[in-house]
Amino acid sequence: MDAAAEEWASEGEAKERLIRLSSGDVMPTLWARGVMALCRVDARERVKRGGTAGYEPVLVLFKDGFFCAPNRFYNLICRENSRFYFKKGEKEMKKKNAISLVLIMALTLVFAGCGQTEEKSDLPKVGIIQYVEHPSLDTIRENIISELEEQGYVDGETVTIVYKNGQGDTNNLKTISQSLEAEGCDVIIAIATPAAQAAAKIKDTPIIFSAVTDPISAGLVESMEKPGGNITGTSDAVSAGKIMELAQKMVPGMKTVGAVYSSSEVNSLSVVNDLKEYAAANNLKVIEKQIMNTSELQQAAQSLDGKVDIAFSPIDNNVASAISAAVKVFNTSKIPYFVSADSMVKDGGLATYGISYVELGQRTGAMAADVLGGADPATMPVQVMSEVKVYINKKTADAIGLQIPADILAEATDLSE
Ligand code: TRP
Repeated sequence: MDAAAEEWASEGEAKERLIRLSSGDVMPTLWARGVMALCRVDARERVKRGGTAGYEPVLVLFKDGFFCAPNRFYNLICRENSRFYFKKGEKEMKKKNAISLVLIMALTLVFAGCGQTEEKSDLPKVGIIQYVEHPSLDTIRENIISELEEQGYVDGETVTIVYKNGQGDTNNLKTISQSLEAEGCDVIIAIATPAAQAAAKIKDTPIIFSAVTDPISAGLVESMEKPGGNITGTSDAVSAGKIMELAQKMVPGMKTVGAVYSSSEVNSLSVVNDLKEYAAANNLKVIEKQIMNTSELQQAAQSLDGKVDIAFSPIDNNVASAISAAVKVFNTSKIPYFVSADSMVKDGGLATYGISYVELGQRTGAMAADVLGGADPATMPVQVMSEVKVYINKKTADAIGLQIPADILAEATDLSE
């Protein structure tokens, strides 16, 4: 370890120096101390997530070649034999590329002889486009961001994350993906099928989609194993047949299923096709109620009153974003409402077989990190989450007077508060 690094060896001392570095008008002091370059980023994004305010120095390059990230003292990086390490026993950065990019940026500043503060940095940029807000997609996004962080891509420090939400409107998605392309993102992460379909129009930026139920029907990839183009990602493939098997155990003798879903979501159409196949093979009848937007959900649910033994919604974003309207109606008419995600059970659906969206988010984040590290989406297989668990809502079961069989109770996770 060289002398400069040694000087920073104590955590307390590093912290103190960092406080000095980042407080007040730091620039003159820094130059006087032999700092050769300093990069600053807008910390507004960080503030949104509960961090500190204002502009902060994120990278300091000293004459002796020592680097640090002053706003995160445990993220101190020192150079030793041209390798990068976290100080204080932090694990070695998995993706050295992030640091290399930061290093290149710093060197560029030095060689430009600028000694100027940059308001906008040249950190690698990750665009996130999410179709709509609902708990499951929000969980996915949070876990994508935390996995990126795990892998060394910390927003505002080693990477810039630009997040935009389409608010359930496909026109918005189009505008957002164009703007993310124009911003020169190094990778774009698209959460949910409609967002992925909009992002897929971009051909010269790597795209990682997340939670796309049926990537082939959605026209995103030709092969799950070898996507071939600039796009790959994760899938939450849902088996309607498996959910119907659960329904038949919980509602013995059920014959008619009312399916409520959005006509515009390919992900839902694909699950409903699976439902129809299962129904045909198992002597069940399906009544379909398609909605054009969330304001039609309540009416669609009401129209099934007295006509069905159970109701079912596929993995439908619009339904998920307004599900309480359907839950209310089905509980009043005492119709067991089977759904397709843990979040939909938490929000009042009766039961499902669901995957872990925490893990799906993490896997998506890891794929994006791989792409930032130079991996090619064309050769990265789509990752399908196939491990499912039974989720139930006991409160909903009570509300409709349904007795859950003991064997199901024993294996299920109850999501009612
Ligand atoms: N699989 C959905 C799609 O393809 C997205 C999704 C993820 C979702 N989790 C969900 C939809 C929960 C409804 C409920 O777009």
